[in-house]
Amino acid sequence: MTDTDAALWCVVPAAGRGTRVGSGIPKQYLPLAGKPLLQRTLDRLAAHPSVAGLMVVLAADDTHWPNIGLPGIPVLTAIGGAERADSVLAGLHALRAKVADGNFVLVHDAARPCVRAGDISRLLDFGIPAGGALLAAPLRDTLKRADTQNCSVATEPREARWRALTPQLFRYGELVAALESARAAGIAVTDEAMAMERMGYRPLLVEGAESNIKVTTPADFALAEFLLERGN
Ligand code: CTP
Ligand code: MG
Repeated sequence: MTDTDAALWCVVPAAGRGTRVGSGIPKQYLPLAGKPLLQRTLDRLAAHPSVAGLMVVLAADDTHWPNIGLPGIPVLTAIGGAERADSVLAGLHALRAKVADGNFVLVHDAARPCVRAGDISRLLDFGIPAGGALLAAPLRDTLKRADTQNCSVATEPREARWRALTPQLFRYGELVAALESARAAGIAVTDEAMAMERMGYRPLLVEGAESNIKVTTPADFALAEFLLERGN
């Protein structure tokens, strides 16, 4: 162990509304195989031996959090913002007293309850020496460019195209600076790696399981339950 992987905190953005699921309750609080989705995600993260604490970022008007069963590691909360990047940055700012600039932090979507411990381990094993990394999956399907009528007008090269997953792993100080810079420039970054790329970093793509889905639509609940029940 080096000081870079001791006391690893994970920021968990959970301040979204789940509009594509379309329930009255935000998706992270809907039941998934008998427990709230968010609780399943927190349990997964807390079960990893390298994860020492969780910073869960909640919506300002969240009323469901007190009903969540918490895992047996430190769990703190912060209030998120309008976009995912705002919520992640709020969570990072709230960790200021706990994490040194040179320490690594993880960021993991609340909506990804099927992340495997082995993938988190590989992300740490490869990502710490690389200075920063993300779980990702290489594109398997042929990629089409559409026009405004949804007609296929070109076939894009699939080589060197990856889908970004989470967790993502970066040094605390570098990630805070990158997200603050993107915000100041008015650029909406959709993941941490995008903010880091803007600053000239080259985050390592660590291949992770395709089963690490982001629960996004009602049908994804059935898929995630199937995966969890299969022992994913
Ligand atoms: N998230 C957040 N703060 C926001 C928006 C999103 O913390 N302002 C979180 C979500 O709670 C989720 C993760 O970021 O865990 C990924 O976002 P997404 O899957 O898009 O969730 P929602 O934004 O809630 O869903 P939708 O886009 O369908 O409304
Ligand atoms: Mg969203």
